[in-house]
Order: sequence, then structure tokens, then C-alpha cells
Amino acid sequence: MNQPQRVEHRMTDKGYVPLYTTAVIEQPWDSYSAVEHQVWGELFRRQRRLLVGRAASAFLRAQDAIGMSDVEIPRFADINRKLAAATGWTLIGVEGLLPELDFFEHLANRRFPVTWWIRRPEQMDYLAEPDLFHDLFGHVPLLMDPVFADYMQAYGAGGVKAHAVGPEALVNLTRLYWYTVEFGLIREGDELRIYGAGILSSKSESIHCLESSAPNRIGFDLMRVMRTRYRIDTFQKTYFVIDDFEQLFDATRPDFLPYYAELAAQPSIPAGDVLAGDRVFNRGTGEGWASDGDV
Ligand code: PHE
Ligand code: CO
Repeated sequence: MNQPQRVEHRMTDKGYVPLYTTAVIEQPWDSYSAVEHQVWGELFRRQRRLLVGRAASAFLRAQDAIGMSDVEIPRFADINRKLAAATGWTLIGVEGLLPELDFFEHLANRRFPVTWWIRRPEQMDYLAEPDLFHDLFGHVPLLMDPVFADYMQAYGAGGVKAHAVGPEALVNLTRLYWYTVEFGLIREGDELRIYGAGILSSKSESIHCLESSAPNRIGFDLMRVMRTRYRIDTFQKTYFVIDDFEQLFDATRPDFLPYYAELAAQPSIPAGDVLAGDRVFNRGTGEGWASDGDV
């Protein structure tokens, strides 16, 4: 078998250009170097230390149950045995970002794409695209949770549908993914905890999202979230808080077609705005916010 490619973005005179790839590959586990296993181990230890008491307890429990540790980069085949027994999900290896429709179709069939390659030692704190650490450490554990597992599949099916509706529907649905699967917070007792993978795989945002007074923390509201713009290059200005995964799954159960029609008639909401109807856990001070750059 050919060695899979490491597909990263390219910087051109027009700025950052993401590259897409559709191949499904076998994880080339024997090709990982000692340094790559160390990068995994160091990131794993660093995040686990931070996340006890900050991550959703369902996430931490699932990460232990699935058998991830700092010893070495996990083998997808081992993880797949645990997932098959728990919720029937399967990891598939990919070389980088997938085109939207391919991504949705995998999710709709309970296949979660995981980038096979890991960041370089000089990228411990930030890189522009998902790597193995983000995908495997951040996203995969919650696929062990039955309700979250069903949400992810339903999201994929919804994505296939939205793709047929058109680009505006896709923008709405992508905002939902962003503010839940990537940057979501969840209530636990009277505390807030992290369940979004974009936060779970980031040292600085794991602290910022819970402890900084700069960002808004607002109760989840489906239509509100699907109207809210977001940041891809800085900490989020707003985090949305769910009560539990049932709330998320129930809110997204209805047919979205009428929702997309309704949303098309409404303006988008800037990333940092607080609205009259919001259930506010924290009204952000806005400290350090950039004035442009919402997506
Ligand atoms: N119920 C949504 C639809 O009909 C699909 C969906 C499920 C979207 C879960 C997001 C999350 O389009
Ligand atoms: Co992600």
C-alpha cells in the first residue's frame, strides 16, 4: 500500500487556501516516529491535567473507557473494537479535510473521519487544520455516548439534506456544528463544563472558555445559534451552553426545511452580540475582541 499523504493547507498570495481530499486510508501506524508518539503523549498529558474538572465528565469517562492513554498514538483498530460494542461507530482514516458532502455522508453512516497525521513539535499550541490529536482526542471519546452518537449521525443526515437545499442552509447548519460539536459547553450541577472538541484539544481555550470574563456564555437556542456568526482565528466571543445531550438531540429532531426558510428571512447575528431574549450565564466584557473577522 502507498504511504498516505499528509494534506495540509497552503499559504498563497491570496492567503490561506484549504485543500480537500476524499481518500479513505488505513492508519499507517508503523510509520509514526518516536517524536510523533511523544507529541501525542505530551499533548495527552497536558490536556488531561487541564480537563479534569473542566471537561464534561461523560467525556473523561469515555476517554478512559475507549482506552486512550499517553503511552503511544492509539491504533484506530483498537478504538474501533470499543466503539463497535458501545455505539456502532467506526473510525476511518483520512488525509485531511473532506469536502462537505463526503463528510456528511460518512457521519450519516456512523463513520467518523480521523486525520492520520499528527502536528509537528513546533505546532503544540496551534495549527490551522484538524490533525490526529484534535480529531482523536477531541471528537472520538463522545462517540461512546449513546445520545451524542445519535446526534452526530443525525447531523450527518441533516447535512446531506442541507447540501441539497443550498449554500445558505449549509451556512446555518455549519454554525450549529461549530457552536456545539466544536465549541459547546454543558451544564453539570451548577458548573459549566466543556464538550466541544475545538476547545478540548486547545490548552489556552480550555481555560479561557470557562474562566475568562471576556466571552459571552449563553443558553443554547437552536435558531439563535444557526444565525450566529463565528471566529475561526481567535477565541470564540460567545459560547452556547446546553443542559444535557438530550436537549441538543431533541431540539434538532424536527425537520429543518421550514427552519431554513425562516432563517433565510432573518439577518445573521455578529459573534459577540447579546440579544434581549438570551439566557445569559456570563455577559462578556469583550476584552481583547477583534472588531472584524466574523465568519
Ligand atoms: N433534523 C434535522 C433536519 O431535518 C437534521 C439534524 C439533526 C440537524 C441533528 C442537525 C442536528 O434537517
Ligand atoms: Co473538529
